Amino acid sequence: MKPTPKTFAVKSFGCQMNVYDGERMAELMAAQGLSPVEAGEADLVVLNTCHIREKATEKVYSDIGRLRKDARVTGREAPMIAVAGCVAQAEGAEIVARAKVDVVVGPQSYHRLPVLVADAAAGHPALDTELPALAKFGALPARRRRANPSAFLTVQEGCDKFCTYCVVPYTRGAEISRPWTAIVDEARALVDAGAKEITLLGQNVNAWAGEDETGRPQGLGGLIRALDRLPGLARIRYTTSHPNDMTQELIEAHRDVESLMPFLHLPVQAGSDRVLRAMNRHHTRDGYLRLIDRVRAARPDIALSGDFIVGFPGETEAEFAETLGLIDRVGYAQAFSFKYSPRPGTPAADMAGQVSPEVMDERLQRLQAGLNRDQHAFNAATVGRTCRVLVERAGKLPGQMLGKSPWLQSVHLLTDAGAGDLLDVTLVSAGPNSMAGLDLGEGRRAA
Ligand code: SAH
Ligand code: SF4
Ligand code: F3S
Repeated sequence: MKPTPKTFAVKSFGCQMNVYDGERMAELMAAQGLSPVEAGEADLVVLNTCHIREKATEKVYSDIGRLRKDARVTGREAPMIAVAGCVAQAEGAEIVARAKVDVVVGPQSYHRLPVLVADAAAGHPALDTELPALAKFGALPARRRRANPSAFLTVQEGCDKFCTYCVVPYTRGAEISRPWTAIVDEARALVDAGAKEITLLGQNVNAWAGEDETGRPQGLGGLIRALDRLPGLARIRYTTSHPNDMTQELIEAHRDVESLMPFLHLPVQAGSDRVLRAMNRHHTRDGYLRLIDRVRAARPDIALSGDFIVGFPGETEAEFAETLGLIDRVGYAQAFSFKYSPRPGTPAADMAGQVSPEVMDERLQRLQAGLNRDQHAFNAATVGRTCRVLVERAGKLPGQMLGKSPWLQSVHLLTDAGAGDLLDVTLVSAGPNSMAGLDLGEGRRAA
């Protein structure tokens, strides 16, 4: 038996979909009457975990150890620990055995958290890693609590692509799309709760498919056009996209829809066709580059972002050089790059030609040097431009606020505007990771 928790904390790791899930779990526990507090003081700590790379998984076990040790040192009762997210899905039984946690709940069944916590409090450690399609959304509170100016909204879950290195198809299940009306209703609830910008989320968000109110089939482009008509919603973004689901309709939305921000995260992973084939990406280098050209033709100022893996099994120096050539050709505004991490149960983990850590380190450094150079060039090229900035929060200096440009650059500026305001700002200088902006003044503040 453990005392029924009265306070809770949720710690999310991994991608934005986990951040969204973490927010929904927090709303769910608050609706049960528990109060949110810091993790160090909570009766219940939910670790919302990520399984994507090895380090992410190891972090879960060290976090569990730290939470228990901190409780011992301060003489508190050890908190109830619930492991949620993708490690829970992949290694549920192992976590229970190895770390003796109270609750394990997967990313598609966390709406059952209150029941599982009650079971654990009654002395029965509880595990639920079912993958019921969409059940959780219907079971979560419909009203959204106070939303940040920039809010996340999951519209699509799961992945059917089975890239040979990736655990997501196993941890999140098959691709499913939430229904049109559920999404529009939740978007409205987020706007009512204060959101000015919504980022539509999915592991393959551009694979979203559904029907509108009239029963007409729609893709993500159509959904974006509908959300564009929502009063009070100033900005729309979406992530993450797969190149093969980038339809003409979606590309045209970038041309036509003013509230759709000029930013596209479109991972390519590698620049060599042989490596792309071994990764089971189902697209070629050239196909990706032609797609980028079409997107740029529709929206010339679009900022491009990507994900890269270096040291995939069998990757030669010449093949890696093709990745460097590809980034030169694209000129990314920002990007994420990773050393290949063999994941249990994925085909690539058993492939011949695993690349040594030293070679991976060295390749990652060269790739990141190129990506940093391109990011800086992109930022430098925007100096002098005037654009809308959505103010999100206070900065470190007195009077300083932080916000985002349409191209997802962080912008800091001195202003008396508050979070949620949209300002006309001139970008005056570029740092390595952010821009300095000049607020053009009260009179030009946008609604
Ligand atoms: N669905 C998205 C991204 C999912 S995971 C997509 O397909 O683009 C986010 C990123 O993590 C991937 O794009 C990939 O670059 C990286 N990643 C996934 N599995 C990995 C692994 N085993 N090792 C290293 N990086 C990995
Ligand atoms: Fe993973 Fe590939 Fe699916 Fe992205 S598309 S989630 S990298 S399997
Ligand atoms: Fe990680 Fe799961 Fe997201 S593995 S990246 S939290 S889908």
